[in-house]
Amino acid sequence: MPKPDAERHASAAAKPLISEKAERFTESVIRDMTRQAHLHGAINLAQGFPDFPAPAEIKRAAQQAIAADINQYAITWGARSLRQAIAAKMKKWQGLEIDPEAEITVCCGSTEAMIASLLAVTNAGDEIIVFEPFYENYGPDAILSDARPHFVTLHPPADPAGEWRFDERELRAAFGPRTKAIILNTPNNPTGKVFTRTELEFIRELCLEFDALAITDEIYEHILYDGAKHLSIATLDGMRERTITINGMSKTYSVTGWRVGWAVASPVLTNAIRKVHDFLTVGAPAPLQEAGAAALSLPAEYYAQLAERYRVRRDHLIPALAAAGFKCFRPQGAYYVMTDISAFGFDDDVSFAKHLLQEIGIACVPGSSFYRHPRDGARQVRFAFCKKPETLDEATRRLAKLKLTS
Ligand SMILES: Cc1ncc(COP(=O)(O)O)c(C=O)c1O
Repeated sequence: MPKPDAERHASAAAKPLISEKAERFTESVIRDMTRQAHLHGAINLAQGFPDFPAPAEIKRAAQQAIAADINQYAITWGARSLRQAIAAKMKKWQGLEIDPEAEITVCCGSTEAMIASLLAVTNAGDEIIVFEPFYENYGPDAILSDARPHFVTLHPPADPAGEWRFDERELRAAFGPRTKAIILNTPNNPTGKVFTRTELEFIRELCLEFDALAITDEIYEHILYDGAKHLSIATLDGMRERTITINGMSKTYSVTGWRVGWAVASPVLTNAIRKVHDFLTVGAPAPLQEAGAAALSLPAEYYAQLAERYRVRRDHLIPALAAAGFKCFRPQGAYYVMTDISAFGFDDDVSFAKHLLQEIGIACVPGSSFYRHPRDGARQVRFAFCKKPETLDEATRRLAKLKLTS
């Protein structure tokens, strides 16, 4: 029998409104910094989105797709034209034969591809290994999928021009019978590390030994410097069947707002990812998937130019930061520079970031948002340099003020 109203309301009031999962993580610090930058009229070197236009031919392809009335749901796992373009690009760049009918799921950004993949493969209590510092989404992704993250440190180099490295013994010790997967991100956000063949071979051996998957976020695959080479772990012996390769349009084609990404995996894994994806979002924007097919067919020069333009931006921002007193870890890939702020004498990264935002007019990301324990990132902040030369010039002018005030 239904309870009388008063009793029903009393018991309803006793229930927590918010789920335990949602209570266990905060909103994104990176995206909050973007809102703060707007509020304070600061230059946004926090969030990784370009402030320059996307390539004209890609925008034209999107406009044409809308004009041609490609405005209804695409096939839930992705428009055929885009899946074919993804398969062709992976053949060209990675030498992998991918079946576009059975091995690709197009999602709303690589963000959705990651959470859909985790939801598709993990059971409650399964462990996933995550290198730390990590792209902040992986923490909530683990919570939402009921997986238990096991963090392995990427140690900063003593010489800032050196490489962030993991200790092989620490990584081996992290693997165990409950390890379901390791999340990789190469080129890496926030460190700029590009994992080497030797490192990936070591990870491959552990995945085989412990029957674990690799879920690899390769969204910065074309943003490489100083001769660094991107290697997909799926190409290593025995990894084709146990890798989910995640990528997307956001960074390579400067269209972070389009929300088109994908997961590439064996048919069995793809089947599960497609089901999760379908019920999460149904599909990614249909006309933008058509534009994606055009984008992925751009010639090799496009990618060479992309990397070179980012090299120029990196070499613009780093000297300005160094002159202002930051110790800069030189990235080999992606478009961020992790810095050490010890020289400024602040208590922690958050108070420093606040000062930089409010007094100097530059938004950065406090290092603690990339670590499980805030203290581990308390001496670091991250800057994004995917910005116009004018933006970086203005940041340089403002940074000079920091030198005077600190
Ligand atoms: C490592 C990494 N993965 C994924 C994303 C988000 O990608 P998307 O826009 O495709 O969801 C970002 C954005 O900053 C990122 O740095």
